[in-house]
Amino acid sequence: MRKNIVAGNWKMNTTLAEGVKLAKDVNEALKGFTPNCDVVIAVPFTHLASVNAVIDSSKLGLGAENCADHVKGAYTGEVSAAMVASTGATYVILGHSERRQYYGETSEILKTKVALALENNLTPIFCIGEVLEERENGSYLEVVKKQIEDALFEMSAADFSKLILAYEPVWAIGTGKTATDDQAEEMHAFIRKVIADKYGAEVAENTSILYGGSCKPSNAPQLFAKPNVDGGLIGGASLDAESFMGIVKAF
Ligand code: 13P
Repeated sequence: MRKNIVAGNWKMNTTLAEGVKLAKDVNEALKGFTPNCDVVIAVPFTHLASVNAVIDSSKLGLGAENCADHVKGAYTGEVSAAMVASTGATYVILGHSERRQYYGETSEILKTKVALALENNLTPIFCIGEVLEERENGSYLEVVKKQIEDALFEMSAADFSKLILAYEPVWAIGTGKTATDDQAEEMHAFIRKVIADKYGAEVAENTSILYGGSCKPSNAPQLFAKPNVDGGLIGGASLDAESFMGIVKAF
């Protein structure tokens, strides 16, 4: 059975001291109760090792927000999947719309990043999602299907099964405008069908598909109640331990 997962994406927020404090607060909040979902925080590269040192990895997973599309070598400023793994992190967000939009990440680049992540035993949290214009002109299902096909469908079923997907409508990210639970469910059910058509029903049923985009403690219960919504990828609300835990407790 697929897992329910709530993952925080801190993006480019917090100094090292602030980040370690936030991780400690989330870790502390997880003591003494067992959530009905896996909990993960994805943090800036600079914070990974220090955060890993202060969290209980059996209760709180740790991830990076990106990794390089090369193994190693003369790529000044880049951080490889092996480097991420060497900090103790076990997840990596790949294909976030902000990476696609601001840093030119294409499906070709993402294919390589996913392969390198898996080679280093990192679980990719792979993001897909349409922009507002595509939502409004009705092409959103096809757009997301193509993102999945182009970056992921050369993978074996065994490798595909190691992925977590995150549907993040770009128009809902950081805008306070959440997809309705019905809009999320329509897309998540569609994504599961796209996976089933390619890899079969069992792989599709076992793939966790998270929703991201202005998810908050107030709207998480409704979103997570939908049968194909297996959790959330949380930006702004993950920067405060209490609001992040409010979303974790929505399960
Ligand atoms: P917000 O929760 O801030 O809308 O961000 C969502 C997101 O991009 C998570 O990856």
